[in-house]
Amino acid sequence: MKAVILAGGTGTRLLPLTRLLNKHLLPVGKHPMICYGINSLKEAGITEIMLITSRVSAGMFTSFLGSGAEYGVSLTYRIQEEAGGIAQALELAQPYIGEDAKFIVLLGDNLFEEPLAPHIEAFMRQEDGAMVLLKQVPDPERYGIPVFDEAGRIIHIDEKPAQPLSDSCVTGIYMFDSSVFGFIATQTPSKRGELEITDVNNVYARLGKLAYRHLSGWWTDAGTFQSLHEAALKFSGNGNDSP
Ligand code: DAU
Repeated sequence: MKAVILAGGTGTRLLPLTRLLNKHLLPVGKHPMICYGINSLKEAGITEIMLITSRVSAGMFTSFLGSGAEYGVSLTYRIQEEAGGIAQALELAQPYIGEDAKFIVLLGDNLFEEPLAPHIEAFMRQEDGAMVLLKQVPDPERYGIPVFDEAGRIIHIDEKPAQPLSDSCVTGIYMFDSSVFGFIATQTPSKRGELEITDVNNVYARLGKLAYRHLSGWWTDAGTFQSLHEAALKFSGNGNDSP
């Protein structure tokens, strides 16, 4: 299985730190943020990874990570010319993933401690469609929030709802089949001018093909000062040198 890590975007919630440095290169404990996602994938046995980032940041990623050999993975890079949304960034991975493949996507600012392998194995047993991982959070209005039917299936995801119907959010750990690229191609930009991953997931939900599992371990999206601080505390306390 291949993986895609999205590390573009503008990082505006972390200004002025992100004026010079891409959010995913900011330090979290001993390592730049990007290293944690790479390490989680490697531990799950995934070594072929496409990293998608912006034109201005690409040089720093290649200088730091190189081919990925030092981390035991093989990295391929693609440039997202403008931050047009998570789904727009993901679309760039289509030639890398190819047809009839299942793959995993990590938002580069999502940090977590739980092994990915059991979730990936569950997705591989799923015939087709997509799978999202959910996590209970105290501030659901910041995230994509699923709406469930009586049978417990996701029928819809609300992106940053003012009145969330659940306190479980959709994390930035997604598993898709290749049909995701066809679904992205049918999307139009949202009110904030982005191709939204939530709209793409909602296509799967409408088809009854959006499975989910819960993350039980610690998780954060390190896109704000508070969550970045929490992540640094979490990972600097793990007492070991690897991410
Ligand atoms: O963290 C989970 C949340 O991530 C989900 O609950 C939401 O449904 C999902 O929309 C997303 O929300 P955010 O508002 O936090 O996404 P953000 O714009 O911060 O981007 C998240 C990551 O995606 C970040 O690591 C950078 C990358 N990205 C983002 C954009 C907009 C790109 O690579 N390119 C982009 O154009």
